Amino acid sequence: MYYRAARPFLFGINPELAHRATVCALRLLPSRNSQFDPRLLSSVAGLNFPSPVGLAAGFDKDAEVPDAMLALGFGFVELGTITPLPQAGNPKPRLFRLVEDRGVINRMGFNSGGQAAAVERLSARKRRGIVGVNIGANKDSIDRVQDYVVGMATMAPQADYITVNISSPNTPGLRGLQDKAALDELLDAVMSVRSVPIFLKVAPDLDTTAIDDAATVAIKRGVDALIVGNTTITRPPLKSRWRDEAGGLSGAPLKSLAMAKLKAFRAATGGQMPLIAAGGIDSAEEVYARMRAGASLVQLYSALVYQGPGLAKSVAAGLVTLLERDGITQISDIVGLDAI
Ligand code: FNR
Repeated sequence: MYYRAARPFLFGINPELAHRATVCALRLLPSRNSQFDPRLLSSVAGLNFPSPVGLAAGFDKDAEVPDAMLALGFGFVELGTITPLPQAGNPKPRLFRLVEDRGVINRMGFNSGGQAAAVERLSARKRRGIVGVNIGANKDSIDRVQDYVVGMATMAPQADYITVNISSPNTPGLRGLQDKAALDELLDAVMSVRSVPIFLKVAPDLDTTAIDDAATVAIKRGVDALIVGNTTITRPPLKSRWRDEAGGLSGAPLKSLAMAKLKAFRAATGGQMPLIAAGGIDSAEEVYARMRAGASLVQLYSALVYQGPGLAKSVAAGLVTLLERDGITQISDIVGLDAI
């Protein structure tokens, strides 16, 4: 209800300011535990997720509002990307609403206050709910692998899981860490200091060979789950005037690509590794379809811009309705039902 009133204001100002205003408003929200239907509980990587619907990275890059987002009904929240050192990110404007397409383009470039500031904030909170931290490398780092090792050591004590993000299109060269040999070296280093579950976040722009390579290396190195995936640098047909802006595209226009890559990762991993779907997820039906295609959990971000803060709760309620319709007692029972 509040969102319906606030939306014209938020859509009338530039997207980055609207995002800041939203985070500031969320900081005022009292943190309380969400109630979930027990049928939505799933266990992944030894963690119990009360709902499979999580908040994707990029919304709370500085660990300001994890408890407010949990209170909005997300089953888990992923903070970040946070780099070891603070950095400003790319010049503004760097965030665009593609309203006609229900999409977003961003080229934020890992702007964050850095890991020390995040640790200070997170260590002051009373821990409840599942909060993961997504880590990245600083743009000017001379040793990117070392940045992930540092990120792991610094953030793991504050996190239920760590996501190694090598799929942002907005840090030049970062996606090169997805290449087989580079990924193997990176995961060898990160897994050797692992103290909490490690998720690996990949791009939806990998081709079949790259998907097979990434899956093989991730399984070999014992990664706990793959997040499929980040924003795309491809451009399906779009209507909005911002369609030619550089950066990563997310939201509704990413939906079919993200689903196709989820299926490809499911085929490449043969169900040996949990998958977390992200990209254009905007309804209970879409969550259901991704889970049937092989996702154990899902994450969303862009749909929040268009549907507002009630989305996580309405999706959770919609999932329960779908389970009842199909006579299913536990949501984890649908994972991979459609995978061939
Ligand atoms: C993102 N995303 C993202 N991902 C990540 O791993 N680290 C990050 O810092 C960010 N930053 C970021 C900023 C903005 C403004 C957006 C819209 C997205 C990607 C995000 O986590 C997700 O993978 C994609 O956006 C696809 O999901 P949706 O948005 O289509 O639900």
